[in-house]
Amino acid sequence: MPADAKDVAELTAAEAAAELARLADVLDTANRAYHNDDAPTISDADYDALKRRNSDIEARFPDLKRGDSPTDQIGAPVSGAFAKIRHAQRMMSLGNAFSDDDVADFVDQVRKFLGLASDARLELTAEPKIDGLSLSLRYEAGKLVQAATRGDGETGENVTANAMTVADIPKYISGMDGVLEVRGEVYMSHADFAALNARQSERGEKTFANPRNAAAGSLRQLDAAITRARPLRFFAYATGEISAPLGATQQDVITKLAALGFATNPELQVFDRLEGLLGHYRRIEDRRAMLGYDIDGVVYKVNDLGLQARLGYRSTTPRWAIAHKFPAEIAHTMLEGIEIQVGRTGALSPVARLRPVTVGGVVVSNATLHNEDYIAGRDSRGNPIRDGRDIRIGDWVEVYRAGDVIPKIRDVDPSRRSSDSAPYVFPETCPECGSPALREEGDSVRRCTGGLICPAQAVEKLKHFVSRGAFDIEGLGAKQIEVFFADDVLPIREPADIFTLAARDAANLAKLKNRDGWGEKSVANLFAAIEEKRRIPLARLIFALGIRHVGESSAALLAQHFRTWPALEAALGEARIGEGAAWDDLLSIDGVGAVMAAAIVNAFRQPDSRAAIDRLVCHLQVIPAEARASDSPVAGLIVVFTGSLEKMTRAEAKATAEKLGARVSGSVSAKTDIVVAGPGAGSKAKKAAELGLRILDEDEWLALIAQNP
Ligand code: IVH
Repeated sequence: MPADAKDVAELTAAEAAAELARLADVLDTANRAYHNDDAPTISDADYDALKRRNSDIEARFPDLKRGDSPTDQIGAPVSGAFAKIRHAQRMMSLGNAFSDDDVADFVDQVRKFLGLASDARLELTAEPKIDGLSLSLRYEAGKLVQAATRGDGETGENVTANAMTVADIPKYISGMDGVLEVRGEVYMSHADFAALNARQSERGEKTFANPRNAAAGSLRQLDAAITRARPLRFFAYATGEISAPLGATQQDVITKLAALGFATNPELQVFDRLEGLLGHYRRIEDRRAMLGYDIDGVVYKVNDLGLQARLGYRSTTPRWAIAHKFPAEIAHTMLEGIEIQVGRTGALSPVARLRPVTVGGVVVSNATLHNEDYIAGRDSRGNPIRDGRDIRIGDWVEVYRAGDVIPKIRDVDPSRRSSDSAPYVFPETCPECGSPALREEGDSVRRCTGGLICPAQAVEKLKHFVSRGAFDIEGLGAKQIEVFFADDVLPIREPADIFTLAARDAANLAKLKNRDGWGEKSVANLFAAIEEKRRIPLARLIFALGIRHVGESSAALLAQHFRTWPALEAALGEARIGEGAAWDDLLSIDGVGAVMAAAIVNAFRQPDSRAAIDRLVCHLQVIPAEARASDSPVAGLIVVFTGSLEKMTRAEAKATAEKLGARVSGSVSAKTDIVVAGPGAGSKAKKAAELGLRILDEDEWLALIAQNP
């Protein structure tokens, strides 16, 4: 709240209307950040205070209550209102580069993966990274039949009616057969954004924080007539599913898309040297303010589509492209306080409470302070950072933010430090439950030892459980979890409680619908959304358990490995840290190391945590992981590469095998199915021969994977 915010009792009607408009906007932005982007911009206490102020004003001026009043909203308003669409091909995001060195590393990695000699020519395109939201357009026989937002990459929202209203998006493409999916960015120009905000405030309607928000809010409108009235634009930059290739290179594709009637970005250029890419980046950066639309970096892509296909993807990003981000924006302000937040694994994270300051168009009042060493002015090895300057409450600090990420504090200004300031003392007990907070050897983080008795850990675990990559339950976001966690009548204290909620409410005379913020319909929707998630893919379940070190991609690896819940449970129930077949089996998974394996084994052996898992799983039907690309001749097989390969690099061989559903392991055992032995293969080939395994040379391997099933 601005420091000069007037007492509600003193507001005139005009001031009240303006204040309600401001609050609707601020709360809407916070809601979206929280529910749709999982990146809170304000603290829960601030959020609650703003919401209270809003309802106080509405109570005094009932006639001024807005159609989009935050009082009537739970969570993010439009999310969930659109039908879901599964993308024919996943919509990926991009890896980031923040320096010239990062870009050089990217180019080196591409060359290395492909096994290109240092003097071999490699072309890359460079084009602006548009700061909007991505959209996938599907044309069948030349007709626009579907438009979908990115969503989580696999499933997006159906915004076809809205996309139809965007002038830059062709509704028909003449002379076109089959399927063509065009991907690109929806955005709003600076001029249109300013005019829209002026119109909005004239009408007393909410204004938008930046063009990206305006574009997102306008595209994701349930009423397409509103979208039509908003000046959205579209740049096409890639394709999804296609019946026939549009060209042999990224540049050809863009030229062809332009010929078909799409708007394409005029700044795209092709370079065959790093210096060329970086020069273009500088030129675009220099002209950034003159382009008339927001960009947040430059995207480099390998030009040759054949090479792109060979390079393929990591779990969420292509190996053939990278976003070179513009430097972060900075500002100076006062550090008013340091708050310690306790995360789901018990980590104590210091958060800076700042005197609000605008950093690159966004008001920032919180920033991360990383950990206690960072505050004290040293790195994890004890070496000084910022020349050893510590950070104290009351200091003037330099804040920066890059893109959408949480703002950070870079430095302090010692010349403006007050003489009575004292070094910050990091707590050694958990501020939430009072348990000792300890730092393990080699860990940069102090952790609460309270485990399940720590309410903060329990709440954060639940929030993680319902988050996007996990159970993703519509209408049960982080905010609602907090409310249910604190509830005495219908509490949710552990994941299993979510699946007994409806039955408990029924036993409690179905009173939930009478509560503030709830109604018959929203309760029915919530219960239906919970019901829907009783069937859950194995990978999501594993990720949802919130085991330390197990992120989304590790969860996917574990699911691929074990395939079914009973198999996983049987194996892990047996496992012991550091010994036995079950432990070795875990470590044989490429991407699972000893630290992660130990955390997994603990989660299944530690009696409390195991009991909570059992209480949960009995409510679920766990969908087994499908064998990836199960129609390939090597799907599900364990493959070891040894010796030197001549037709492709080790990295490419591994990526190709994995794409076909094989598991690549570094060591030969009785479980290995195929050993691909190139020249110079030594002990591994020998062991394979002793075990009587199938041994192929590189050509035989290539012939095998080229076979149709
Ligand atoms: S290519 C497989 N090109 O940036 C990669 N993306 O941070 C496909 N974006 O999700 C994306 N401008 O929404 C590409 N010229 C551009 C882009 C661009 C903006 C967005 C896109 C993507 C996000 C990743």
